[in-house]
Amino acid sequence: AFKPRVFSGIQPTNHLQLGNYLGAVKRFVDMQGSGIETLYCIVDLHAITVWQDPADLTRATRELAAGYLASGLDPAKSILFNQARVPEHTQLAWVFNCVARMGWLNRMTQFKDKAGKNRENASVGLFAYPNLMAADILTYHATKVPVGEDQKQHLELARDIAIKFNNDFGVDFFPVPDPIIEGVATRVMSLRDGSKKMSKSDPSDMSRINLTDDADTIAKKFRKAKTDPEPLAETVEGLAGRPEARNLVNIYAALGDSTAEAVIAEFGGRSFSEFKPKLADLAVAKLSPLSSEMSRLMQDPTEIDRVLEAGAERARTIAAPILKRTYDIVGI
Ligand code: ADP
Ligand code: NA
Repeated sequence: AFKPRVFSGIQPTNHLQLGNYLGAVKRFVDMQGSGIETLYCIVDLHAITVWQDPADLTRATRELAAGYLASGLDPAKSILFNQARVPEHTQLAWVFNCVARMGWLNRMTQFKDKAGKNRENASVGLFAYPNLMAADILTYHATKVPVGEDQKQHLELARDIAIKFNNDFGVDFFPVPDPIIEGVATRVMSLRDGSKKMSKSDPSDMSRINLTDDADTIAKKFRKAKTDPEPLAETVEGLAGRPEARNLVNIYAALGDSTAEAVIAEFGGRSFSEFKPKLADLAVAKLSPLSSEMSRLMQDPTEIDRVLEAGAERARTIAAPILKRTYDIVGI
């Protein structure tokens, strides 16, 4: 039996967006201090699978750390660090490159989406990314991984890698980690296209709410959010086949720690011109304290770096012995 341990990570690209916050960070905070060890990483090595301007990457790393701290992650309760500072991630990833099969990675839909038509020109890192993600989790023997819906397939791959490693070497060494995909905001959709998830890497800034957006920008983005012409349904079932309407209701519910049913009980039958300003007000009320705390923290980058360095040191005390035992099992 493995000791329960939580690991998750976010890429330091652009700015934290509302989907990251509701689907991931807010849930990281919920799992903190529940008696289970929690590790939350800034996955900079994943970010560089596509080109990143170096200065932007450094800024985005600190800004994400500030976002973690402002949201309530506490370095006294969770290990907060960036991936590149813990070399065991990449060392274990190499072993996993040799365990995972080409066919498994060929099935990853995120690679197909991100590489697009220009597959031959995608980086090798983008293709092998899920193996590094498996190493991120398993170098801590983590058992629980809170993520959004989009990471489900990668988590299945991490499970397959743990199982194959254990079988190949006749050991019960790696736990088979469980994805924790829960709540009303496991897949927040783009504000411009109800068939796409909200993402920091979407080229349209209007498609997402950034945690750094000011109140006017938030109000404008919700006002311009794509919707159908019908008023809100009288029941949650009535939102079926209306992805944009459903998305705005889910966002309202997640921001207010409520449910889609409760939101419909309040706003069912109302027009979007009534509902959208209420949604914007709620978003501003919840997010503006975070963004002002983030700006405050960003004024002292040395302190942010210090928090991350201390976290990396603690992370290595867990990762290094697990990597050493992995090498022993493999015979290297
Ligand atoms: P992005 O696609 O915005 O670059 P990442 O790949 O860094 O986000 O994902 C960080 C975390 O945020 C993951 O757990 C991911 O599942 C979650 N996440 C990303 N986008 C969304 C979304 N639109 N809704 C819910 N969770 C999301
Ligand atoms: Na993603």
